[in-house]
Amino acid sequence: MPHAVIETHTPIIALDNKSVFFSKKFRLFVVPISVKCEDFIIKVYQNHGKIVVKLDKTTYPFITDDVKSAILGFAEYLANKLNGRIVSHNLNRTYRDCVFAKNYLLDVRSINEMGVNNLLKSNRIRLEVGMGRGEFLLETAKSNPEVEFIGVEIANEPILKAAFRFTREGLSNVKIIKHDARYIFDLFDANSVECVYVNFPEPWFKFKKVKHTLLNVDTLKKIERVLKKGGNIELLTDNLAYAVSVVTALETHTTLKNTQNRCIDIFKGSVDTYFERRWKKRERTIYRVVYEKNIESEAVGIDKITFPLNVKRDYVLENGLIFKILDVFENSSDQRIVEVTFGRSTNPQHSYFGLTNSDELFLIPQSIFVADEDALKSLELATI
Ligand SMILES: C[S@@+](CC[C@H](N)C(=O)[O-])C[C@H]1O[C@@H](n2cnc3c(N)ncnc32)[C@H](O)[C@@H]1O
Repeated sequence: MPHAVIETHTPIIALDNKSVFFSKKFRLFVVPISVKCEDFIIKVYQNHGKIVVKLDKTTYPFITDDVKSAILGFAEYLANKLNGRIVSHNLNRTYRDCVFAKNYLLDVRSINEMGVNNLLKSNRIRLEVGMGRGEFLLETAKSNPEVEFIGVEIANEPILKAAFRFTREGLSNVKIIKHDARYIFDLFDANSVECVYVNFPEPWFKFKKVKHTLLNVDTLKKIERVLKKGGNIELLTDNLAYAVSVVTALETHTTLKNTQNRCIDIFKGSVDTYFERRWKKRERTIYRVVYEKNIESEAVGIDKITFPLNVKRDYVLENGLIFKILDVFENSSDQRIVEVTFGRSTNPQHSYFGLTNSDELFLIPQSIFVADEDALKSLELATI
């Protein structure tokens, strides 16, 4: 994560700077920043006697040179204020233009506003979750120009590589969502997706962490809802334990039906992605799981929520939903930003909001979250 480390003998103190929001509880700062196209939060905290200035990854910006130089600029300002010096950082410019990647992005705020389907031209939609560098999506999209493809990916670097490939090939039937895929499915209409592809999602999967995996029971139920009748989920993995956990969840918690001879088959073909090549080189077996939807889901739209929200409770845990204000930050003009965790308690989201003096939660440019069903319900719980 982009960061700088400052060495100083001066402890963190409240600065007389309106852009800096200070937490009295934990002696740390947050600094909301907006640069060209990106809105994000810098977190500043003490660690082993040094001060760390770091991007808060839950604000999901593209890590552009603009973002890096804003972090470095703030670190220099802080080092100067605290009579310290920057001793390390990873904020050198790379002169890599990210603007082309923007052409392919679907912004999460627009998705919250409109739903994904309303932002697309076609009603033939396929989705790849954890698309990595986009090799599979590129080839599949090229051979199916009448279908619109969406790649969901959380990490910066693979998205840049994928977008570079799409740009070079002039692809116009692909979009990217840069976010955690587990929250995205609710923003699709029910019965609207032909196929959800998942290629080599979690090579380091452990059974004891199954609740937090990408394809856990909650995500698989959401995938079931968005698939069209006759649509498939297709999983490739080198990890048999992962395939077993997915099949168990599909058989137990969904109505999807297996379309192969065996629930888990050995895959002899190729999708020619980075991870497939990697595992093939190590002669690993590749497993394939394909399940089909045979019945229509009920098409219930999800509610919208309007901000500001009158927050009456700072901690609620009810029916598996959580809303918790983790910290309150204040600037020198007594304006407040809160850091909140909310949504399904096993898989909560994390975001920043403004808070008025009458405890109304409002959106700031750095409030980046997916307005999925769990998030909306838990935000509403806080207002009761
Ligand atoms: C092992 S890589 C496989 C990438 C690609 N499918 C391939 O075959 O080369 C897994 C990818 O899934 C992405 N990923 C993991 N969890 C995710 C999540 N919750 N939401 C979106 N992407 C995720 C990772 O960032 C990574 O790029």
